[in-house]
Amino acid sequence: MKISIYGSGYVGLVTATCLAEVGNEVVCMDIHTDKIEHLKQERIPIYEPGLEQLVQDNIATGRLRFTSDVAEAVQHGLFQFIAVGTPPDEDGSADLQYVLAVAESIAQHMDGHHIIIDKSTIPVGTADKVKSTISAILETRSQPYEFDVVSNPEFLKEGSAINDFMKPTG
Ligand SMILES: NC(=O)c1ccc[n+]([C@@H]2O[C@H](COP(=O)([O-])OP(=O)(O)OC[C@H]3O[C@@H](n4cnc5c(N)ncnc54)[C@H](O)[C@@H]3O)[C@@H](O)[C@H]2O)c1
Repeated sequence: MKISIYGSGYVGLVTATCLAEVGNEVVCMDIHTDKIEHLKQERIPIYEPGLEQLVQDNIATGRLRFTSDVAEAVQHGLFQFIAVGTPPDEDGSADLQYVLAVAESIAQHMDGHHIIIDKSTIPVGTADKVKSTISAILETRSQPYEFDVVSNPEFLKEGSAINDFMKPTG
């Protein structure tokens, strides 16, 4: 399957690498261009046991690529994972600006059916906001592409993230 992942932080990088390891073709996108350049050189910004080797192996097979080109990412994957940060807002609620910015980018560049997957930690109701953000932009583009928005929250623990992903039942 072709998969695009937005955010190459802890969650995005681990998810991208593990999905590539099980055979998918994955493009991992981030707006942080330095981080992407380092990742292309197999320089890993976090310490997670086993991650560096898996990144190297999957870049070598061509199943894992990194980009800061959002159009390339949108056009790659049927499945589009949003794995950007959701820091606490001033009132303690999750700040959804990064999630909704990705939704806008997807809507601006999509050219067919996509399944958009919220992997960031978000409150109930966010899928509706993602959906309405995308619908509004598709309307201005006069492009009635079909899309689905689903939720797949992440529960990994830093330090055992690869194991948590690969063996979810323990
Ligand atoms: N780290 C954890 O242990 C953990 C565990 C479970 C859930 N989560 C949740 O997963 C989500 C991601 O967490 P994280 O720790 O990976 O965050 P992070 O801050 O490490 O990484 C987020 C990345 O998103 C990138 N980004 C921001 N805007 C973007 C955009 N428009 N397009 C592409 N990339 C963009 C940033 O540059 C950054 O590299 C959060 O909602 C967090 O609460 C984290």
